[in-house]
Amino acid sequence: MKITAQKGTRDILPGEIYKWQKAGRTFADVCHMYGYEEIRIPTFEDTNLFQRGVGDTTDVVQKEMYTFEDKGGRSITLRPEGTAGVVRSYIENGMASLPMPVRLFYDITAFRYEKMQKGRYREFHQFGLESFGSEGPEIDAEIISVVNVFFKRMGLNKISLHINSIGCPECRKAYNELLKEHFRPHLDTLCEDCRNRFERNPMRIIDCKVDAEKDIIKNAPRQIDHLCDPCREHFELLKKRLDNMSIPYVVDPNIVRGLDYYTRTVFEFVSENVGTQGTICGGGRYDGLVESLGGAPTPGIGFAMGVERFLLEAEAQGVDLGSPNKVKIFFVSMSDSARDKISKLCYELRLAGIGCEQDLMGRAFRAQMKYAGKSGIPYMAVIGDDELASGEIKVKCMEDGNETTVKIEDLAAFLLEK
Ligand code: HAM
Repeated sequence: MKITAQKGTRDILPGEIYKWQKAGRTFADVCHMYGYEEIRIPTFEDTNLFQRGVGDTTDVVQKEMYTFEDKGGRSITLRPEGTAGVVRSYIENGMASLPMPVRLFYDITAFRYEKMQKGRYREFHQFGLESFGSEGPEIDAEIISVVNVFFKRMGLNKISLHINSIGCPECRKAYNELLKEHFRPHLDTLCEDCRNRFERNPMRIIDCKVDAEKDIIKNAPRQIDHLCDPCREHFELLKKRLDNMSIPYVVDPNIVRGLDYYTRTVFEFVSENVGTQGTICGGGRYDGLVESLGGAPTPGIGFAMGVERFLLEAEAQGVDLGSPNKVKIFFVSMSDSARDKISKLCYELRLAGIGCEQDLMGRAFRAQMKYAGKSGIPYMAVIGDDELASGEIKVKCMEDGNETTVKIEDLAAFLLEK
């Protein structure tokens, strides 16, 4: 039986890994510029963490988690996202004693049992960050600006920022009552999940994938029209901060986000390009999460970006994502003595930080030339007895065909300049 990759998973092959590496390095660079430090959290956690953290009325917890019992009888779940694990780690490692705000970023895989679509996988990757301790809207704006700086550094545009406020537990109470009044007469038109969510978490109904197109959902009251004064002020100040940095945004009252921990600011970066999966990045504030997972009351905010979706978008926009080959020069050998000389030369060049390759397959001269032409390596040089005697080689630029005569001892300097 032929064994193939599981549905919703994919190999990232050498021909594309350079794009991932470039994006990952750029994201880390940008995070470092803002004072964020990388954190690595486990791939699996106690199932309770996600039930309590992400929320047991969400689609993610109800339908999409990879949960299993391990050999010790524990209920384990592959992380469907990074925030809950980072919060657990923050509490468990006593990070509350660090100077605030505590700023952490991550580059992780996540797992959700979802229907496969373009830009939607069962194992996917997220770049994300979380910040703890600061309540004011300044950090909300700063976090949003991290995404903008990353997009700009990668050369992306045409992605719009949508923001909303979904209030705090205080204004949520009154809003939930409003929602119930709105939905109560129409409960029988909603799906079973929505009917179950009605009592426990009516806001989740607005986020239902099954009922999304129904008028009763489209016409539901929006939290942003029913914020308490402190939440409204927080949102107004966030908008001011974004205006101050000239970061464009649209206020989108329909954003509720699919996870239960959010309070106040929520935001998404959206594209029209990536099939039906237009949300490249999503995040928001979660001022109650640390406390609900057993820590001291601590405000928090963060986001996560789907790396697959980001790369699809970057490609759709024709962004230059670097090149797959780090090797700069290929040496074609014309004799056994040249092969020995090339091995030594390659070793010395690599010590000097220059990527190079020689034939290791015993290919004849013509086959070596053919390989060099196909390899995508930008320079090539033929070395035979004449070159060894003169100590000079002709370095050919494969792009324009131009040849430059270079002394072998000057080769490293010549290539470093290129
Ligand atoms: P999320 O909106 O569930 O938020 O996911 C963030 C991003 O991950 C999405 O915008 C999308 O680009 C990507 N994503 C989600 N599911 C899939 C999938 N099945 N296949 C491919 N990409 C996917 C969170 O995960 C929150 N933890 C974000 C956050 C951090 N909020 C505060 N801090």
